[in-house]
Amino acid sequence: MTAHTLASESMQPIQTLMASWDPHAHAEHVSVIDSSNTELMRRARQGDNRTCLLLADEQTAGRGRLGRQWQGQPGDALTFSLGLSLSPTDWSGLSLAVGCCLADALDPSYDKNIGLKWPNDLLLGNWTHPRKLGGILIETVVKQGAQEASRYVVIGIGLNLSAPPVGEYRSTPAGLREVSGEQLTTVDVLQAVLPGLLKGLKHFERAGFAVFQQAFERRDVLSGQALQLSDGTRGTSLGVNTHGVLQVQTEHGQLQVSSDEVSVLPMEAT
Ligand code: BTN
Repeated sequence: MTAHTLASESMQPIQTLMASWDPHAHAEHVSVIDSSNTELMRRARQGDNRTCLLLADEQTAGRGRLGRQWQGQPGDALTFSLGLSLSPTDWSGLSLAVGCCLADALDPSYDKNIGLKWPNDLLLGNWTHPRKLGGILIETVVKQGAQEASRYVVIGIGLNLSAPPVGEYRSTPAGLREVSGEQLTTVDVLQAVLPGLLKGLKHFERAGFAVFQQAFERRDVLSGQALQLSDGTRGTSLGVNTHGVLQVQTEHGQLQVSSDEVSVLPMEAT
């Protein structure tokens, strides 16, 4: 146990929030794990489909999108996964909806300049100087015997409280303490984001991404910006549609970008 390890009583408010949302839901806290997403996915594949929030002080094999690593120092990053069954009619745009819930909870007055970058990043600042604050990794398991729309989904969230060293990341990272005060703890942040996240997931299940589209637009750092896709295609972002699909204007016409395999980069200088 490190000095940063949470006391178990710190989890009580989180347990209470989870139970008020679903009486069968529970929260767990571990000091070290390979990855909170990997653990909930492992359990789900073994048939454990319970609603669970798993908070980890430290991950030894934290994962990001596109097979990237996610690194966070204990006490300096909030790392947790929420596993639950969801049955939306349309799954598209879930990571964007989660991003809206997090950003709205952390920056309700828009004065902290927390933005969202399609499809799963929280940023501080703008597209000219994007600094990554956090990311979302969503994975699903099809439940055996369930109707097709119902899946167990694991929503993994990593948020920097203090910016990790620059060298480990493609772009300069940022930390929430810069805008919310040096005293901020991981449990403070979890308590701040969890109610909105749980409410937002119910909303998403009922109405899909369309009800989050405006909220996303308000924080969309790509909108109107020149960008380059990981396959080299260049264009200008026209924002996202009601399914969370990124619209890109290229010289050959409008592209709809929904692939999970695509990343969006600032335009390289020519
Ligand atoms: C990304 O930026 O590509 C997504 C990062 C997601 C990191 C979180 S930390 C908690 C959960 N467990 C993981 O291994 N990854 C997610």
